[in-house]
Amino acid sequence: MIKITNLNLTYPNTNIAVLKNMNFHLHTGEFVTVIGRSGSGKSTLLDLMMGLVNSSSGTIEKRNKLTMGYVFQRPALLAWRNVLKNTALPLQIEKMPKAEREEKAMQALRKVGLGYAATLYPHQLSGGMSQRVAIARALVQDPDLLLMDEPFSSIDPLLRENLNINLLKLWSRMKKTVLFVTHSINEAVLLSDRILILEEGCFIEEFKIDLPRPRTFDTPQSSKFLNYVKTIHGCLPCEPNMARELKF
Ligand SMILES: Nc1ncnc2c1ncn2[C@@H]1O[C@H](COP(=O)(O)OP(=O)(O)OP(=O)(O)O)[C@@H](O)[C@H]1O
Ligand SMILES: [Mg+2]
Repeated sequence: MIKITNLNLTYPNTNIAVLKNMNFHLHTGEFVTVIGRSGSGKSTLLDLMMGLVNSSSGTIEKRNKLTMGYVFQRPALLAWRNVLKNTALPLQIEKMPKAEREEKAMQALRKVGLGYAATLYPHQLSGGMSQRVAIARALVQDPDLLLMDEPFSSIDPLLRENLNINLLKLWSRMKKTVLFVTHSINEAVLLSDRILILEEGCFIEEFKIDLPRPRTFDTPQSSKFLNYVKTIHGCLPCEPNMARELKF
């Protein structure tokens, strides 16, 4: 679906190489998660795939007519538009008639359990609700590929688990491909077919998660699940800058 070859990126006016000689192949229908410490380049990679930033060198080959939805790390909702109109925005940009786009927006909101909140404005939402509106907005065009940058990071653990299971149902029912970013190893193991560890701009490790599907609330109790979590935890690099700076 997407093939990245020898990709390098240094942001203009900086001399720091954020992505270094990266190679990556995302296959149709996969659920792949990227884990890596803060500043390792996860959001940059998603921005690149979406075409929001340009690489310095290397190639990104995309399947013909590939459509993508992006759930940004920060929800970025427009304060003057209610939840329904925020969700419908991508369809308005493509000039879909109002009644049709609002019907589709309503369907997307129901998928994330927010049908009841359609008339609320962003300042009336909790952090978790804002994130779910951002997910609905990414789903509204029914994209082939969903890029999700820490979509559940500000959501309480109980609701987060519910949303994870919900996302898995959506993924299998709608036959999407997902590239997901998280700092939670448990979340990554629960969701993914593959987990990639990003460190200083390239992938240093890959884990195939061979747990049966459909995965449920019981999956995290299995010994196989816990073994994956332990193995991945053991291979994650520590945060050298944090260790240096956080002196109590
Ligand atoms: N627009 C920009 N201009 C210059 N440097 C940038 C820009 N955006 C990000 N960077 C730098 O690129 C590096 C990677 O940032 P990025 O946001 O991709 O990290 P991340 O892995 O998503 O981190 P986090 O887990 O904190 O979200 C950081 O050093 C950051 O300072
Ligand atoms: Mg980020």
